Amino acid sequence: MRYIGSKRTVLPFIKTTIEETYGNISNAIVADLFAGTACVGEMFKREGARVLSNDYLSFSYALQIEKIKLNGIPESKRSYLDLISLLNAAPGKEGFFFREYSIEGSSHGEYTRNYFSKDNAMKIDGVRTQIELLRVNGEISEDMYFLLIANLIDAVTRVSNTSGTYGAFLKVDDPRKDLPLSLCASSFVDNGKKNECYCKDIFELIDDLKGDILYLDPPYNGRQYPPYYHILDTVTKYDNPAIYGKTGRRPYANQISPFCVSEKAEAALFDVVKRARFGNIYISYSTDGIIDYEEFSRKLKNLGTVRVFLMQHRRYKSNSAESEIQKKKLKEIIIHVEK
Ligand SMILES: C[S@@+](CC[C@H](N)C(=O)[O-])C[C@H]1O[C@@H](n2cnc3c(N)ncnc32)[C@H](O)[C@@H]1O
Repeated sequence: MRYIGSKRTVLPFIKTTIEETYGNISNAIVADLFAGTACVGEMFKREGARVLSNDYLSFSYALQIEKIKLNGIPESKRSYLDLISLLNAAPGKEGFFFREYSIEGSSHGEYTRNYFSKDNAMKIDGVRTQIELLRVNGEISEDMYFLLIANLIDAVTRVSNTSGTYGAFLKVDDPRKDLPLSLCASSFVDNGKKNECYCKDIFELIDDLKGDILYLDPPYNGRQYPPYYHILDTVTKYDNPAIYGKTGRRPYANQISPFCVSEKAEAALFDVVKRARFGNIYISYSTDGIIDYEEFSRKLKNLGTVRVFLMQHRRYKSNSAESEIQKKKLKEIIIHVEK
């Protein structure tokens, strides 16, 4: 999926930097505590590491269960493929997504919203209700529940009338909107290890974890993540939130991240590194981030040996109407702290 700050395209840079400084990670415990799409943790898992993963967004938790925790299809009374077929055949329903995020459902209210076609919005309601029923009736385990939600999230991202985030819907329909919503079964990376996933604010978790390598990929600008991914969080929670405004966001006042606030970001990140009980810490950042990485690197020298690695790549830019990829060159960096 398209995600602000995704490291999908720079995985080789992260892998090489860690291999050159730490060595082989196959026997290491590696944590990725700003996991987002979980693609970095999945790369660590592929290398054989035992992975601990976290992000405070609910939808990320579902993706983490799918990509990080599960080493295969979770045990279940009903077969996974049967469940996918059952969900794909679920009848549509005039529920929350229909009422709030399709033109047909929302035009009776204060705001008309165009995130999904009528059929897909109703289908999301139908599928999500069915997943809840399976859980309430004890037919699926907790892991299967989140796996099916992850499959629904993936399906939703393929039919959304947006430029990739959910900060707004498109004024002119994207052809994606007319594709039928359809869930696909996952394939799994098996590292044979007990991987762990969390959905917490990093400050509630950092003191409790211990391991060899900590990878940190905090936000690097002032854009808070929750309003950009509110719809995916609502797919996950399906909790009838009191959404507001033209774009129908969930309230997120209790999720304001200090890493997106220029006066707070540096102290917050320093605090995480200081408290971390990991010998090797790797911080992904950008040279045009709200933290001055050179000054920050100097301060980090109070905590250990510091080295900075640089590479250039292209930035995914979501908030300009048409040009999704801005070919502006940014320097992707990794700050390595060996405590
Ligand atoms: C740059 S993105 C990570 C992208 C990820 N590495 C990927 O490739 O998909 C930063 C992530 O930090 C999460 N985040 C921001 N503040 C947080 C906090 N206080 N605690 C936990 N996660 C937080 C956001 O939800 C977002 O997913």
